[in-house]
Amino acid sequence: MSIHNENIKKITTSVLLKMKAEGEKISMLTAYDYSMASIVDQAGMDVILVGDSAGNVMSGFSSTIPVTLDQMIYHAQCVVRGVKRAHVVVDMPFGSYQCCHTDGVRSAIRILKESGADSVKIEGGEEFAGTIKKIIDAGVPVMGHLGLMPQSINKYGSYALRAKDDTEAQKLISDAKILQHIGCYGLVLEKIPAALAKQVADSLTIPVIGIGAGSGVDGQVLVLQDMLGINNGFSPKFLRRYANLYEDISKAVGSYIDDVKSVSFPNENEQY
Ligand code: KIV
Repeated sequence: MSIHNENIKKITTSVLLKMKAEGEKISMLTAYDYSMASIVDQAGMDVILVGDSAGNVMSGFSSTIPVTLDQMIYHAQCVVRGVKRAHVVVDMPFGSYQCCHTDGVRSAIRILKESGADSVKIEGGEEFAGTIKKIIDAGVPVMGHLGLMPQSINKYGSYALRAKDDTEAQKLISDAKILQHIGCYGLVLEKIPAALAKQVADSLTIPVIGIGAGSGVDGQVLVLQDMLGINNGFSPKFLRRYANLYEDISKAVGSYIDDVKSVSFPNENEQY
């Protein structure tokens, strides 16, 4: 679908809940800048996530841990300027909500107030339910995030499949119910067994968006650079590549270098 008219209806949290109720799958991709966000929005994406994966794909960090609140707000501002229709959700970065309710509420309000985004996403279950509830009570819609939670890399030590054993699976099911109960409008499940993800999605009325969580959920999310094949050093089993932009960009840049060196660029039509 391509959006070309000005009568564009913004995707709100109510629209996302309705999509779940009506069984319409939700499309979601990350974006971190104006140009990419404009393309993704114009293509008809339902949700754009300003993910803290910006730390990996935009800043070159080896984890999301160093990403700051100011950096997330900057990326969110750039994305919001390019988006007319998609719901824009922004990751609360590591350190912006873990210490106390006050930190969490202040950080969430800063994100919405300074970027114009629509909601925030927070990693964690029961441990952060108190803070998440305060944030929702303050008027900021929250999407939860369970399963593989990259901000906890130092706690778990790897990015391997989560909730394989029964204890972790039961905790995840319980956390998902808590997040819905306190008012989250949606939930991301990352890298967990497909059967478990389907069980959770079937048991909730809020939309469950999966990444590496199979097809039994209410929608899918991928990191834009990964699915476009820009970031070609990352090939987990769950990733489908829709383009090979690393190769296309390398070829284009190589041709430009050749043309500059051989003075075939600019030609007569490309000068004043
Ligand atoms: O930061 C991110 O891109 C995410 C997705 C992987 C869901 O949280």
